[in-house]
Amino acid sequence: MGFRRTTRVVVTGATVAAVVTMAAVAQAAPGDPGQPRYEAGPEGVGDPYFPLAGNGGIDVLHYALDLDYLPPDPDPAPLEGTLAGVATIELRATADLDQFNLDLRGLDVESVVVDGKAMAHSQTDNELIITPRPKLKAGHDATVVIAYGGTTIRPEDIEGALYGWVTTRDGAMVVSEPDGSATWFPVNDHPTDKSSYEFAITVPEGLVAVANGNLVGSSTDAGSTTWHWDAPDPMAAYLATATVGDFVLDSYVAENGTPIIDAVDPALPASRSANLAKTGAMLTFFEELYGPYPFVSYGAIVDDDSVGYALETQTRSFFSRNASEGTVAHELAHQWMGNHVSPAQWSDIWLNEGWATYSSWMWSENVGGPTAQQSFDATMARDASSSYWAIIVADPGPYGLFSGPVYTRGAATLHALRGEIGDDAFFDLAKQWVIEYGGGTASTDDFQALAESVSGQDLDAFFTIWVRTGSKPTSW
Ligand code: TRP
Ligand code: ZN
Repeated sequence: MGFRRTTRVVVTGATVAAVVTMAAVAQAAPGDPGQPRYEAGPEGVGDPYFPLAGNGGIDVLHYALDLDYLPPDPDPAPLEGTLAGVATIELRATADLDQFNLDLRGLDVESVVVDGKAMAHSQTDNELIITPRPKLKAGHDATVVIAYGGTTIRPEDIEGALYGWVTTRDGAMVVSEPDGSATWFPVNDHPTDKSSYEFAITVPEGLVAVANGNLVGSSTDAGSTTWHWDAPDPMAAYLATATVGDFVLDSYVAENGTPIIDAVDPALPASRSANLAKTGAMLTFFEELYGPYPFVSYGAIVDDDSVGYALETQTRSFFSRNASEGTVAHELAHQWMGNHVSPAQWSDIWLNEGWATYSSWMWSENVGGPTAQQSFDATMARDASSSYWAIIVADPGPYGLFSGPVYTRGAATLHALRGEIGDDAFFDLAKQWVIEYGGGTASTDDFQALAESVSGQDLDAFFTIWVRTGSKPTSW
């Protein structure tokens, strides 16, 4: 785009007012390359559930995370590790910035270098505040190198579930939904900013560091091993992992062509990971429903420790101590539904959990277990007076993100929608959803709009009854 032209005005008494107005307009023009008005990037992206999550004014293109990690001394407790990191972040300014933030919690920043120059910075509980000089004009791509580190603990989310960089006896379980990535690297911690990643993770020799994407290689020197991983697909920060522990790696190519790397803790009995062998058949099944698997690779991490849940960490799902068949299907389906198409805001979480749960219902039917209809019927058999129906599925609140109804009422909503618009439109919708919003984010309104356009039906009453009302639907 060309520069804006300013009209030269001869100032006379009569034109003063006009000149003042024009000057104000010219100054207010956002991003005008001749007239930058520098501002501080907001400390959050504006997600009402997590006001400090993410940051305004920046778009991260790539994270290169160089992590050096020492797990705890096994004896004695406490479970605390030592992390020293260098994060090299390629980001684009989306506003004229004299200050911007990244999210970082519980670790100390030693130095910040922007485009090769050391910069002033400060930290609050959740924010790393950087004041770049020269200031960053909108559209400028900057390289930000942050050296940081500290003691790792076992952080908890607002509901009290372990998340983030969770220190274990032999390493760390790294699972960060919804806003736990800030416990291990400086990050624009919101799904609306997806980025590619690369990792170099150095751990004591004998331990394995497992991250997202492809294993590039590992090298051992003087008692330490560095594991290199490359994750080129756009990824929301909560789906990044750098899990460390005692793992055996198993690599193979699934029947659909996707390279698989599983990492299983050898302390576990083989039965705990036996269902991973169904991954190839599941990939084929979900590709038929949702289209091609969207990423460079897949696989699972099964640790002998537990955060109390599994997580769909992108390309490498995490399982706590056991990988049941239903959960293996659930986390795999998330790769399309949640990871490739991610929630626009955290209130849209039912689009992740409803689709993943419905996917495991369909998988069960496919292998001769309970049918999707039977799982739906079991859900709808719950008494209307139960508090189960009280939450609003499309707005469960920050403390209700992972509550049962988000999963099973979300899945029941999809089954009811399938009945409402018919199989052809429903599976067309599933594929179109992935095509249209893959690589980005989408909201409940986006989903309703696509369902309406694919089916040709007005579905406002349907979505109001099923996801925007805190009571049991009266007919289905
Ligand atoms: N999203 C995860 C899944 O579907 C679940 C999850 C993440 C979770 N954080 C949680 C469940 C905290 C309970 C508590 O598998
Ligand atoms: Zn899930």
